[in-house]
Amino acid sequence: MTNLAPNQLPAWQALQAHQTRIAPLHMRELFAGDEKRFRRFSMQACDLFLDYSKNRITTDTMALLVELAQRSGVEAWRDRMFAGDVVNASEHRAALHVALRAPGGQPFPAPVGDVMPAVAAARRRMGEVSEALRQGRWTGHSGKTITHIVHMGIGGSHLGPEMGTRALVATGAGGPALAFVSSVDGAGLSAALAQARAETTLFIVASKSFSTAETMANAASARAWLLERGGFPAAAVGDHFIAVTANADGARDFGILDDNILPLWDWVGGRFSLCSCVGLPVAIAAGMDAFDQLLAGAHDMDQHFLNAPLAENMPVVLGLLGVWYRNFFAAASRVVLPYDLRLGGFPAYLQQLEMESAGKKVGRDGESLEFDTCPVVWGGSGNDAQHSFFQLLHQGGALVPCDFLVPAGGGSGLSEHDDGLLANALAQAQALMVGRDADETRAHLAGQGLSGEGLQALLPHCVFTGNQPSNTLLYASLTPRRLGALIALYEHRIFVQCVCWGVNAFDQWGVELGKGLARRLQTELADGTGGDHDGSTAGLLAHARRLRRNR
Ligand code: F6P
Repeated sequence: MTNLAPNQLPAWQALQAHQTRIAPLHMRELFAGDEKRFRRFSMQACDLFLDYSKNRITTDTMALLVELAQRSGVEAWRDRMFAGDVVNASEHRAALHVALRAPGGQPFPAPVGDVMPAVAAARRRMGEVSEALRQGRWTGHSGKTITHIVHMGIGGSHLGPEMGTRALVATGAGGPALAFVSSVDGAGLSAALAQARAETTLFIVASKSFSTAETMANAASARAWLLERGGFPAAAVGDHFIAVTANADGARDFGILDDNILPLWDWVGGRFSLCSCVGLPVAIAAGMDAFDQLLAGAHDMDQHFLNAPLAENMPVVLGLLGVWYRNFFAAASRVVLPYDLRLGGFPAYLQQLEMESAGKKVGRDGESLEFDTCPVVWGGSGNDAQHSFFQLLHQGGALVPCDFLVPAGGGSGLSEHDDGLLANALAQAQALMVGRDADETRAHLAGQGLSGEGLQALLPHCVFTGNQPSNTLLYASLTPRRLGALIALYEHRIFVQCVCWGVNAFDQWGVELGKGLARRLQTELADGTGGDHDGSTAGLLAHARRLRRNR
C-alpha cells in the first residue's frame, strides 16, 4: 500500500500516457490485429463466462491496470475486508458480508469474534420461518393460514430482496403472495393492502436501524390497518409481524415478538445485506434450499476473488475496466443490460450498490479527490431498451460502457423466443463495437435502392461510429447459485473500484442531509408553521399548501 493519492501513482500516470496512444484505435483494428483476442480477454468463474474483448484495451492496458490494482493495495484491502478489520473507518465498522455466505460448521474468526455461530443461528431461524410460511403452517391471530405477505423496507432493505424474489420466484412455486412496499408514498402501501385481508396477512419490517422514516411510517400504518380491519387486540401484532433488524429493542417496542425478530449486525452494510435474513422474501418465494444455493454461489465468487491472481480475477478485471473508462476516458455513466427478465430488478439494485458505495469525492483520509469517481449507473431490460434508449448508445456520441447479462440456454419453454433473445443480445454488442462506416453505409443504402442526392442526404444519419465498449456475461440460465455469484461479482467489483479511488465503499454520509431537512419540513406541514427556508423551498411549500387547500 502507498500514501500517494491514486492519481499520483506511477501506474495511474502511465495509464494516462497509454490512453493517449490507444484512444484513436478502433476495436475493429484491435480484433483484426490479434486473432487470439477473444481467448485472451475472456474468462470463466463460478459458472459465469465473461467476454471482455470488446473493450478499448490491449495487453499493455491490462498489465498497467493490474499494476494500478497492486499499487493501490487491492489485495491488502481485500484481505483486510475478509479478515473482518475495520475497513469502514468513518463508521468504525467491519464489512463482513462475505461471512454471511461462508459454509456453516467452520469458524469465521474476526476481531469482533467468531461470527459464524450467530450467522448459523440466523440461517436456521430464517429456514424455519420461510418453510412455515411456504407450507401454510404460519397462522394469524384468528388461526387462519397466512396467504399474503407485505414486505416493508427501503434502500438495501428493499432493492436486494425485491430483485432476488423477482429473479427466483419461479424456482419455488407455491407459498404466500408477496408484495413490496418501500416509498413513504401512501399509494404503495394502499395498493398492497387493497389485495390483502387482515386475518391472513403477515408484514415483514426490514430495517437494519429500525428507524428509517419511510419504513417506520409504512409499518405504523400497516399495524393500524391490521388492528382495525381485523378487530384485533394489540397483541395480534405478535402473530402478524416479523422484523429483520439490528435494533431488536426498536422491534420489541413496536410489538414484535422476540422469536419473530431476525437479526442483522453492524458489520453488514444495508446494500450488502441480501445474503443475511434481509433475503427472507427470497427464501419465502423460492424456498430455503434455493436461498442456500444463492449463498453457495456468492461464496464461490468470494473464494475466486480471494484466491485468483489479479489478472485472472473477474471482479478485479471488471473493477479495473470501470476505473479505465471513468478516469481515462471520462465516461460519465455505465449501463447494465440484462437480457433476462428475471433480472429486471438488477439495474436498480446495482444503482444503490455502486452509487451509494462509490458516489464520493472524499478519500478515506478525508482529503478531497482531484479525479472523478463513481459513474452514473443505469440500465434496464436489454431487449426492451433496444427500442428506447439504445439509440443514444449507438449514435449519441457519448462513451457509455455496457454490461450485457445474457442467458444462453433459454429455458423459457419457447425455443424461438430463446433464440431471438440471444441473437438480439449478441447483435447489439456486436453493432456497438463494429459500427458501420461511411463506405459500408453507402453500400448498404445503395443495396436498398437509394442513390444520388437521396442517398447522400440520408448517409450521415445512418453511419455508426461503433467502438462502444461492452462486457458480456454469459451463463446457461439463471439459477439461485449463479445469481449468488453475480451478486458477489458486482459487490467485489465495486469494492475494487473504491480501493483504486481511495474511497470507503461502506459508508453513505451523503444521504443524511436530506433526511434531516425532510423531518423538519414534515413537522412544519403537520403544524402548519413555516420555517426559515431558501426562496424556492418556501415558494414550493406555500404553493403546495394552496393546492392542498383547493383539493
Ligand atoms: O438512507 C440510506 C440508507 O441508510 C441505506 O444505506 C439503507 O440501505 C437504507 O437507508 C435503509 O436503512 P435501514 O435498513 O436501516 O432501514
